[in-house]
Amino acid sequence: MLRSVKNLIKSALEQLNRQRSAQKVKQEAQHISQQQLVEDLNRLGIEQGDTVFLHSSLRSLGYVEGGPAAVIAALQQSVGPDGNILLPAYYLPGGTIDATCQLEDYQFDPRIHGTHMGRLPETFLKSAGVKRSLHPTHSVAAWGKDADYLTNGHHQAPSVFGEGSPWQRFMEMPQAKVLGLGISMGPVTFYHLLEDTLGDAFPLPVWEKKHQLPCIDANDKVWQVPVRSYNKDLARQRIDHPSRDDLRQYFMKEFQQAGYLKSGKVGAGDSWFIPASDFLRHLKQLSSEGITIYANPEQLSPDAKPK
Ligand SMILES: CC(C)(COP(=O)(O)OP(=O)(O)OC[C@H]1O[C@@H](n2cnc3c(N)ncnc32)[C@H](O)[C@@H]1OP(=O)(O)O)[C@@H](O)C(=O)NCCC(=O)NCCS
Repeated sequence: MLRSVKNLIKSALEQLNRQRSAQKVKQEAQHISQQQLVEDLNRLGIEQGDTVFLHSSLRSLGYVEGGPAAVIAALQQSVGPDGNILLPAYYLPGGTIDATCQLEDYQFDPRIHGTHMGRLPETFLKSAGVKRSLHPTHSVAAWGKDADYLTNGHHQAPSVFGEGSPWQRFMEMPQAKVLGLGISMGPVTFYHLLEDTLGDAFPLPVWEKKHQLPCIDANDKVWQVPVRSYNKDLARQRIDHPSRDDLRQYFMKEFQQAGYLKSGKVGAGDSWFIPASDFLRHLKQLSSEGITIYANPEQLSPDAKPK
């Protein structure tokens, strides 16, 4: 009883904070319409038939009239009926993979669990036609022609990014693009696909412990799904760590100069995309030269990198 009252108060306060925050953005930021987003996405290079894997910051786009639903509608218009959109719908009740694996009695249930990946993923999960993969830490949501195929094998994949996972199936799509809206090259899950693909050949021991976490499907069947936690020391020097702006900028410049990354404004947000096959191939090339998303500043110096 006490717990449900506490939860009600918590959610009412969160709603209030969200309204205040949205109001502030509305007053201070440039106003962006859905139509402008469609035009900007097209100018950036998002095309009909594309399959995009999106990482985003809503706030960075300016004040979007119609909120997150308008961004999703703009993306749907841009990729059209033959395209697909994937978003991270990860649920990490412990805050990290490791802490989530330590939780007692945690069982992922897509019917009740939301996502911790931001406002666009939250809204996307509730949108018509969106499918969701069954995974205890890295559930992926997809809309579009191949949404079922993209999401339905995850709980049976040998690892988060292994055969049958949304990332492997994303790679099979003819016009697959990793898209960043209003974000840097930091929070991009795609990097980890290389670690899984190379396995022991990846230059660093990025994985720590192996776990099995339960997930419950729509028929109430329980699946034990494999999860690995990351090496904590390496995670502290990874490209998504707040301290690694140098690495984020290095990757941005590297992919731009190699001709794979297209950048431009979408709304008010600095945005970019990289075709998935170029992305993986170039990550592999860089890794063979000792440059990974864990590279330290010395490894990034022009003298250190063999060309
Ligand atoms: C963490 C992260 C989500 C924060 O970005 P953000 O823009 O602050 O957060 P969201 O995208 O959730 O948008 C919410 C904010 O949008 C703003 N907002 C609300 N309505 C809005 C509107 N109509 N138009 C624009 N902004 C609006 C609010 O300020 C809100 O902030 P609040 O949370 O304080 O209420 C982002 O930096 C990031 O890392 N994104 C990638 C996440 C990801 O994919 N991770 C997986 C890779 S490992």
